[in-house]
Amino acid sequence: MKQPTFLLLHCLVVGTLALGQTWQSNHHRRSVRALAIKPSAAASHDTSNVSGVSPFADNGTALASSSGRNAANETGNASFSSSLVGSFNLFLIVCSTTAKSTEPISGDGGWETAAAKAKAFIKGLTIDEKVNLTTGVDSIGRCIGNTGRVTRLNFDGICFEDSPVGVRLTDYASLFPAGVNIAATWDKGLMKKRGEAMGEEFRGKGVNVALGPMMNLARNAAAGRNWEGGGADPFLSGVHASMNVEGIQSKGVIACAKHYALNEQEHYRGYPVASSSNMDDRTFHEDQLWPFAESIKAGVGSVMCAYNRVNGTYSCENRRLLNDILKEELDFQGFMLSDWTAIESLYASVMNGADVNMPGMCNGDANQPNPAISNNSFWGQQLGDAVRNGTIPESRLDDMVTRLMAAYYQLGQDENYPPVNFDSSTENTYLHGQLVNEHVNVQGNHSEIIRTIGSASTILLKNVKNTLPIDFSKLKKITILGSDAGPNPDGPNACASRGCDQGTLAVGWGSGTANFPYLIDPYSAIQNYVHNKSPDTTIQAVLDDFDYGAVNETVIQADACFVFANADSGEGYVTVDTNAGDRNNLTLWHGGDELILTTAAQCANTIVVLHTVGAVLMEAWHDHPNVTAILYAGLPGQESGNSLLDVLVGTVNPSARLPYTIAKLRSDYPSDVLYTVSNKSTSFIPQINYDENLNIDYRHFDCANITPRYEFGFGLSYTTFSYSGLTIKVLSTVPANSMQPGGLSGLYSDALNVGFTVKNTGAHDGNEVAQLYIGFPESAKEPPRVLRGFERQFIKKGQSVNFSIGLRVKDISIWDTPSQQWVIPDGELTVYVGASSRKIYLHKTFALCLD
Ligand code: BGC
Repeated sequence: MKQPTFLLLHCLVVGTLALGQTWQSNHHRRSVRALAIKPSAAASHDTSNVSGVSPFADNGTALASSSGRNAANETGNASFSSSLVGSFNLFLIVCSTTAKSTEPISGDGGWETAAAKAKAFIKGLTIDEKVNLTTGVDSIGRCIGNTGRVTRLNFDGICFEDSPVGVRLTDYASLFPAGVNIAATWDKGLMKKRGEAMGEEFRGKGVNVALGPMMNLARNAAAGRNWEGGGADPFLSGVHASMNVEGIQSKGVIACAKHYALNEQEHYRGYPVASSSNMDDRTFHEDQLWPFAESIKAGVGSVMCAYNRVNGTYSCENRRLLNDILKEELDFQGFMLSDWTAIESLYASVMNGADVNMPGMCNGDANQPNPAISNNSFWGQQLGDAVRNGTIPESRLDDMVTRLMAAYYQLGQDENYPPVNFDSSTENTYLHGQLVNEHVNVQGNHSEIIRTIGSASTILLKNVKNTLPIDFSKLKKITILGSDAGPNPDGPNACASRGCDQGTLAVGWGSGTANFPYLIDPYSAIQNYVHNKSPDTTIQAVLDDFDYGAVNETVIQADACFVFANADSGEGYVTVDTNAGDRNNLTLWHGGDELILTTAAQCANTIVVLHTVGAVLMEAWHDHPNVTAILYAGLPGQESGNSLLDVLVGTVNPSARLPYTIAKLRSDYPSDVLYTVSNKSTSFIPQINYDENLNIDYRHFDCANITPRYEFGFGLSYTTFSYSGLTIKVLSTVPANSMQPGGLSGLYSDALNVGFTVKNTGAHDGNEVAQLYIGFPESAKEPPRVLRGFERQFIKKGQSVNFSIGLRVKDISIWDTPSQQWVIPDGELTVYVGASSRKIYLHKTFALCLD
């Protein structure tokens, strides 16, 4: 076959990439084609023109549920789906009696030994023992989820525990900065280190599967769980996810990529009825699937299917999602775990690709009998019976258990893995006379990395005339204002699942939390520091957000007024101040706007510090001449106050960048949470249509030419940088194009290398986050610019540093729905380099074409 060459127009000729090989499987599977340079005659990318059944639709292999309840739902979906028109392609449900097997584990990409060990392990198991490993035993185990045991083989079962910020529901463990904070560092090294530290803690507690990272995109600014994930951009979120997976798994703990897929709001995610997120195949591949693909490439051992439906079908029984895309196209070798009670059927979920049902039971009643051995589960006993009577082939059950055990062996958990030493249901040492909590301290020196990440994720948004960094010894009087500066009066862990907004905000609420071992609030941190360094400086504070009289009195004659405010959100099972998970609005909580304005009215040096779960509207006070600085600290975890202090005094020069856009108006965003539907029937399925297609977040602002308050990627430094010398080199690697977790290996091989120089032109040493955006040819119908690379480097003042950012084949490709493959579009590509999605300092346009 002819090997295509990349040719850089304007005379640079450069190497060859073996991109045109057709990959032939050596084991039977659906045909998967290799990446190819798109021939000029290739079909249009406008998915609305695709005729026939969409590739993002099921080709008649989705199976009727064995339960009447689900069969009814599916019929409802099918008729509703088919009445919809528009640019997204729908998942057509066709009931069939012919079971098509799902993709079994192949052992590809370094999983051979683990798969073989897993197969050997299950060889002697009875059907009931195998079922016992696939269906959770609910509250009978010690973790938030537990499989059964195989006692005669001394196998203790698998323990699943939340969360993406640390080991949940236990003591002597850390609470790390949230996902959205680590994304804001744009630092791959810190992302990995955070994962390693977390991995040590999960392992130390005996947890087999850590339920994170969370990688749903911040599609809607108000969506409750945005803070758990890596922001609004697929590429950034993909780096966050893969670094976290690598870090956690380097300690032998199985990570879990969640929630697959399109679980991007809390309203209607499952109660009382699960909404359907409807999306076209191309957007799915390029945006929402991207971080999952990167996690699988990083070797993630488990993926969690979501509560919501996707294109009409429950995620956990959606064959296109679970089997065709994850297990076939992405060659996922681990196991597909359900979100808690997200399994809604036996036959459809098992036959379409779900492998483990957690916590096992049908509904949320924890007092029911062990689901694995009772009828209180869509699986459990019913699964065993279905295998015995031949409705479900035993080979399918075998693959479910093999995948679970393969992850266990792949991560080396068969050797010296600590047993579970805590009980998530209680912090008491004994339960029913048995030792359940050994109170193992797993924190190590993680407070250091937590503090570092906290300051590295604090975004400087405004800094008039170098207000910051601040030298407290030069100030006679400072004031600290707002409840967000101080402690929660009831203690940091007073509210279950952190479901309240009292005192300083350092994490959101829901299952994505952990217990604080301690929480350093900003007021204490600043006061201790100032008291030690410059005891003559007076510090006053008003922590009551609404005591404007006291505020007015206190700010008089202050040299600097630090106003703290926040905005909170979380998972939908907890409602805080009428916010049912998703935020009701994008404004600051506890009258934050009013507090800032009241302060700024009297204090010429008002420094605003915000702890927020995501974007907040700032127009009410942003341009006030007395607002001299704004720090956006996100959710920094247990070291909050110390991290902030490091930035305030300049021990750390801020380098964090926004992982989402801050708009001037809520209506400027391309999509919003669906809060309510007029049809209140519980059989009506709310439809969430991803009509923005590829234009998520900044891409919409760029495309529609809307000026945001702060664009994606924005963040200031105490120093300044200049960019120069852009070079683009085509690499002459010849990748072997084989199947591996993540998809065809050629997609991940290096295609281009982009080099440039950054000089620190200011007065402070500091890190610079250089960002690389790709502009595709117009015919590709992409957003104006998409992030496809970044690098953070430390540069001493006056010095220059060379940056080199690699672009993989996938990074310069788009998903071609008709041919179901990634293609590099014909025409000119532009590489944009700069310090945000709008501060572009260098760019170069060139074309890659076939030789
Ligand atoms: C959440 C998951 C979590 C699980 C177990 C569910 O409600 O969606 O993210 O891992 O509960 O707590």
